[in-house]
Amino acid sequence: MSVTRGYFMTTSRLGFRFWRMADLDLARGLWGDPRVARWIDARGQLTEAQVAERLAFEIQLQHRHGIQYWPVYRLNGGTHVGCCGLRPHDPAARIYELGFHICASSWRKGYAFEAARAVIDHAFGTLHARGLFAGHHPRNKASRRLLAKLRFRFTHNEFYAATGCQHPSYLLKAGDEDQTEGSAPVDNTTDRQS
Ligand SMILES: CC(C)(COP(=O)(O)OP(=O)(O)OC[C@H]1O[C@@H](n2cnc3c(N)ncnc32)[C@H](O)[C@@H]1OP(=O)(O)O)[C@@H](O)C(=O)NCCC(=O)NCCS
Repeated sequence: MSVTRGYFMTTSRLGFRFWRMADLDLARGLWGDPRVARWIDARGQLTEAQVAERLAFEIQLQHRHGIQYWPVYRLNGGTHVGCCGLRPHDPAARIYELGFHICASSWRKGYAFEAARAVIDHAFGTLHARGLFAGHHPRNKASRRLLAKLRFRFTHNEFYAATGCQHPSYLLKAGDEDQTEGSAPVDNTTDRQS
């Protein structure tokens, strides 16, 4: 992995680093924001201790599995824009879970798409993944749109303990990530729930 200005991976606008406990302020600005937390955690609003727990969890994941939802920064100026990365999902089948959490102040600038594309390339290229799993809160239209743009295909609904909801769930198989958008079969079960 080449390192550019402390980033282990870059895109045209973004750089990826690894979480450290010293990043608590950044973590608070992301997971401590109820506009973000409401989509990923049934508690809706995380306390300082819960944000710190989440940060420690990401750091542990990197130690144990070499992956996490990596913190992402703008190359131009270094603003923290959120995190995007991988979790173990089905290690025997080499399937990882893809996730993205973007700070509310950076929404709708294409950062989640750009970061996710880089993570997908990393997963299939460097980690030799066979597939990527992803799911989202049933009312999360932004995530649904984003996953369709990324070529994920709806597979089923699955209970997600962290939110207490049935999450529409998707798979991106190795080889499918390079197809152009246009024939994306979008999950049509979620419009009724949104
Ligand atoms: C979902 C999330 C990651 C999207 O991040 P983002 O950087 O704003 O997304 P992008 O700018 O890359 O947009 C990707 C696509 O989603 C669409 N989108 C983004 N926000 C949207 C919204 N609020 N409603 C509908 N579509 C939306 C964009 O329009 C774009 O599609 P387009 O190119 O066809 O217009 C961000 O809203 C977020 O972090 N939310 C809180 C946490 C969360 O929900 N994480 C996902 C958990 S599964």
